[in-house]
Amino acid sequence: MAARIERFTISIPPELLTTFDEVCAAKGYASRSEAVRDAIRNYLVAHEWGLQASDTEVVGTITLVYDHDNHRLASRLLDEQHARHDQVLSTLHVHLDASNCLEVIVLRGPAPEVAALADRLISLRGVKHGRLVTSSAG
Ligand code: NI
Repeated sequence: MAARIERFTISIPPELLTTFDEVCAAKGYASRSEAVRDAIRNYLVAHEWGLQASDTEVVGTITLVYDHDNHRLASRLLDEQHARHDQVLSTLHVHLDASNCLEVIVLRGPAPEVAALADRLISLRGVKHGRLVTSSAG
């Protein structure tokens, strides 16, 4: 059975709509509606994430690019993950080149703790780029 669909009208400045259509086309969306549905879902997930109570389980990934030659940093990253072994589900490590590593850490746990771990790791000296991507566990 097909899901019921609601139609609604929105007011938007023409230049914003033009930019939106350009981005939709670049991303390969077949229709404006599908892009709007995805944008709304992302908006709702972000909102839900911000409202998580400490007893609500969430999932997320931390992506880090860091200096391979900084051995103290590599050791610190491992220590932080071992200390949170109950929340770290998996880690992917890629040796980007002779001196750069990419690491993706998959986490599941209380939102405040996942966010705090991400903040600690991303702010470490020698981490060149870091980002937490959050999602709902449910
Ligand atoms: Ni490496």
